[in-house]
Formats: sequence, structure tokens, C-alpha cells
Amino acid sequence: MASLSSLPKSISESPCSAIMGSLFDTSFVRQNLSIPGSGFRYAPLKIKGRPCMETKVAPGTLQTTDFSDSVLFDVPILSGSEVMERLKANRENIKGKQLFLAMYSSIFGGITTDPATMVIPMDDHMVHRGHGVFDTAAIMDGYLYELEQHINRFLRSASMAKISLPFDRETIRSILIQTVSASKCRQGSLRYWLSAGPGDFQLSPSGCQQPALYAIVIQDQSPPNWKGVKVFSSSIPIKPPQFAIMKSVNYLPNVLSKMEAEKDGGYAAIWLDDDGYVAEGPNMNVAFVTKEKELLMPSFDKILSGCTARRVLALAEELVKEGKLSGIQVRNVTVEEGKTASEMMLIGSGVLVRPVLQWDEHLIGNGKEGPVAEALLNLILEDMKNGPTAVRVSVPQ
Ligand SMILES: Cc1ncc(COP(=O)(O)O)c(C=O)c1O
Repeated sequence: MASLSSLPKSISESPCSAIMGSLFDTSFVRQNLSIPGSGFRYAPLKIKGRPCMETKVAPGTLQTTDFSDSVLFDVPILSGSEVMERLKANRENIKGKQLFLAMYSSIFGGITTDPATMVIPMDDHMVHRGHGVFDTAAIMDGYLYELEQHINRFLRSASMAKISLPFDRETIRSILIQTVSASKCRQGSLRYWLSAGPGDFQLSPSGCQQPALYAIVIQDQSPPNWKGVKVFSSSIPIKPPQFAIMKSVNYLPNVLSKMEAEKDGGYAAIWLDDDGYVAEGPNMNVAFVTKEKELLMPSFDKILSGCTARRVLALAEELVKEGKLSGIQVRNVTVEEGKTASEMMLIGSGVLVRPVLQWDEHLIGNGKEGPVAEALLNLILEDMKNGPTAVRVSVPQ
């Protein structure tokens, strides 16, 4: 057991100046309470009562530090309409690259196109316990790409996460299409979530009144990026298969793995499964082309069954017919096979098909974007633009 002296210092034991320094600094208040450019003004920080005293804590006693007697933040208490006004001002000041065009929420039972109102309840079990699942679909030229395949996975994820459906499949599908229609988006993506819903802040979802459905349409007109990237082996552990095969909102390992790769100039970090075989990236699948010109993809039993990867497997048959590939295999792939492949690529609805030129210190093939990755990207793009109705759902505008 850790001794009391080795534990991090409690607030009451910390040097008074460090805490009070930040509290007295009015820029702290401005950063935390003001909305740049909104015109809202705040009175300076008010301090009342006695000066901060350093308190010693007797071993084995519980300590609490009550600042309410010494410091008073000038936090405004707002009416609903004032909150709305501030949410709008806040949105207008976010200079993000992405435009959110429409949101559906089963909580308010409709669609909004005002980004300031695209919010979800704090007591939603997805927010405070991660009890939610999600999925996506690309919007290309006003069509939803692979919507049915993504909805099927969405519903499988919901069943694995024991989230019951607020509506039947047809209604969910119709809500998603209507949300895209209201957005008038022609290029971008649709993202949607099912959660256990709002209710209370308990661990058990038994207090959640009813499951919730949310969807948002994001405009993205950037062309697909074909430039080859570098990847690293992830030091962040992969999720156990039970969680890796469902698309839950628990993406912390994925986020940390992406950040780890970016820190070293990489695009993504690659996970191996618990038997040491190549698994997947944080939001994409991987594939290789062997020296014998075979397309090789890790099997999907312990990773997310990627809709794009599965579509690539079907479209790649064309390349076999043309003699550009000698065959297609979905099986366990060793790291040795992966690193000595003549091509490696990342595959997903976000990246589409992105060549990998280097994995850790190993150059893949000749270190240049390869012909099979290029052909597969072109096949996917063509499929998105002119594919069969099984993969393209028209959105009424
Ligand atoms: C962990 C993980 N693997 C693979 C994929 C690729 O799946 P898809 O092609 O359906 O986007 C994703 C993307 O959502 C993912 O998050």
C-alpha cells in the first residue's frame, strides 16, 4: 500500500500561491468564462473573506478544502434563452474546418439545421458511461454510400451493447435519409449514434427512460488524399475481441493510438491481435499485396468488420480478372508478411484506400505508392459515384 507521504499532495498541502495565483489571474477567468467576440462582459473576479491558509492534514484524516469562503467566481446564472444566445455565439466563433449541416435527435424528435442546438443530454448513458454505439456513411454526389451495410453493422453493435432500438430498422433508415435530405449536403458524411438514453447518472442503465437515436451531417468537400503515409506499431493495447468487433463509442484506445502515431510523424498506429497477427488501425482496416501479387487481408473475427474493406474485397475480383492480382485471401497475416509485402494500404470510409510507404523502420515495397492501391482507390471512387443501388441510396433533395 502506498504510504501517505508518497501520495500526490492534496490541494490543502499544495503551496497556496500556486492555486491562488491561477485564481487571482483574471486571464484565467476570461479564458474560462468569456466568449471571444460575443460581446458578453464579465465583472472582475471578486475575492472575499480571509486569505488562503496552508492547512496541514493529520495522517489518517479526511481532508476537504473549502474555497467558497475565500474566493467567489463571478459565474453568471443564465436563463434558457441566454444559454441559447451564448451557444450560438460560441458556435459562430469556432473556426473549425467542418460544417455541421443538420442534426436529428430522438430527444427533441426532429431535425435542426442550427449548429448551436446540436446538443445531447448530459445524463445520456452514452455521455457519462460510454454506453452507446455509432456508425457512419459517406455522402457522395447526394447519394449515401453503403448505407444498408453500415446500418446492419450499427444494429449488430447495438445488440452486442445491449441497447434496444427506439424505432425499427426501416424507421431508423428513413430518419437518416431525411436528415441528409434536410441538410442539402452533397459531399460529406453522415454519423449516427444509438444510446441507452438519458435518465440518471448511475452505472446501470435501468434508470434510462428510453434509448436515443442521434444523427449528424457533416460537410466535407476535400478530395480523397492519395499520398502515401507512414505507420507505426501501436504500443496502446488493442481492445479485446468482444469490444473490437462492435463499434461502440469507447474509442479512447483508438484516440491514444492515433495520437501516438501523430507524435512521431505517422498517420496511424497498427494493432496486432493477442496472437501477434496484424489486426487493424484505429479507424481503418489494413491490406497487403504480396510479392506473388495476392491481395491479403487480416480476417475479421477479432476486429471491426469494415464495410469499405469488405467492398474492396468484392471489387478486387475485377483486378484478378484483369491479371493485376493473382488472388485474394482473408486470413491471419504475420507481421513479417506485412512488412515484406510489396504494397500495404489502409482501408476505411474515412481514408478510402491510402497507401502505406513505411511501417516502423521498414520501407514497404519500393517505398512508393503502389499500382494495386491506386487501382483499388479508383474502383471504390467509381463505385461511390456510379455503383449499383445496393451500395448507393439516393437522397431526395
Ligand atoms: C476500428 C476500426 N476499424 C476499421 C474501420 C473501417 O470501417 P469502415 O470501412 O466501415 O469505415 C473503422 C472505421 O470506422 C474502425 O473504427
